[in-house]
Amino acid sequence: MNDWNTWAERELSGLRAINRYRELIAFDGDGPIGTVRGQRVLSFASNDYLGLACHPQVKLAAISAIERFGTGATASRLIVGTRSLHGELESQLAQWNLSERALVFSSGYLANLGVLTALGEQDVTLFSDELNHASIIDGCRLAKARTLIYRHLDLQHLRELLSQTSGRKIVVSESVFSMDGDTAPLPALAELCCDHGALLVLDEAHAALGPKLAPTPGLQVLHVGTLSKTLGALGGFVAGSSRLIELLINRARNFIFTTGLSPADTAAALAAARICQSQEGDQLRARLRSLIDMLRPGHASAIVPIILGEDAAALAASAQLRAAGIHVPAIRPPTVPKGTARLRVALSASHTEAMLDSLRGALARLDSIPSHQLEHA
Ligand SMILES: Cc1ncc(COP(=O)(O)O)c(C=O)c1O
Repeated sequence: MNDWNTWAERELSGLRAINRYRELIAFDGDGPIGTVRGQRVLSFASNDYLGLACHPQVKLAAISAIERFGTGATASRLIVGTRSLHGELESQLAQWNLSERALVFSSGYLANLGVLTALGEQDVTLFSDELNHASIIDGCRLAKARTLIYRHLDLQHLRELLSQTSGRKIVVSESVFSMDGDTAPLPALAELCCDHGALLVLDEAHAALGPKLAPTPGLQVLHVGTLSKTLGALGGFVAGSSRLIELLINRARNFIFTTGLSPADTAAALAAARICQSQEGDQLRARLRSLIDMLRPGHASAIVPIILGEDAAALAASAQLRAAGIHVPAIRPPTVPKGTARLRVALSASHTEAMLDSLRGALARLDSIPSHQLEHA
């Protein structure tokens, strides 16, 4: 008889043997300082880039929404799950993204899946950057469309693939890449999409500091974003033309067949979006920019990778930092390509200069970091 527990243990042992085992570690805290297994740690792991997950106004908005609407949306948006808050948030996100309309999903992961499966029909070709996030990869896999992968940020390669392909085309790329923190050349990408009549699906999950796509005449674009990082809540969204959003409402199975976004998350994201668009938002972004420059001057985003190569090296460096009271996660395949395991430092406006000094000191004391990786860190 097959024993599933024996099988699972064998699989887990295999993962441990190749340094790919993952475990859940509880971080208790509000902001970058907290405790892990009773030890006080300073975290550089969260994607709360502007520190809004702990902002008093954002917290209060979530609490008030629970008081008014209850804890859950209680049904799919198309059944009885839509609340006035969803409409308010969607209007705000549409306006922010210079789009006619927006639609929220239960996560950014589901937003990518929804767009790519709803639009990626059999006669479509999807063109995807090789370092796109797992949610894009999975969306491409689930879509009926054929997928062509182009080399990371290699627009010449993309151009060749687009030229060799007929029929309807969708180009999908992140604007800021989640594990490298580098950015796509948006004007050139937009121009290429226009030249080939391709729809651009741009995932801006990590674009706390931009880059922003300038309005481009003739470009057809859908912006995918998340409520779970800069906006400090949980959920995702797609913004674009009214017609395409209307089609997603009718076709995206992971929108139709799931319960609407919770009132608390919707209200928190709305409050956070309003802060982002205010003067306070400008101040938080300026603060984040100056912290990035302390660690790696001129780096394009709040994600600072320190590439170490082997999985074991990344795990050892992360453990050494943890022992020094600093939490920086080790990122291993399949999240990143084999041989490029790394530390991923994520900065937030809620960090202080003193916290950055502690991080720099701890990084400098690490045994295993090649000196060129530390040049600016
Ligand atoms: C580029 C990118 N897109 C989408 C997502 C998914 O967003 P969410 O965490 O809201 O599901 C992530 C999250 O890690 C991401 O890095």
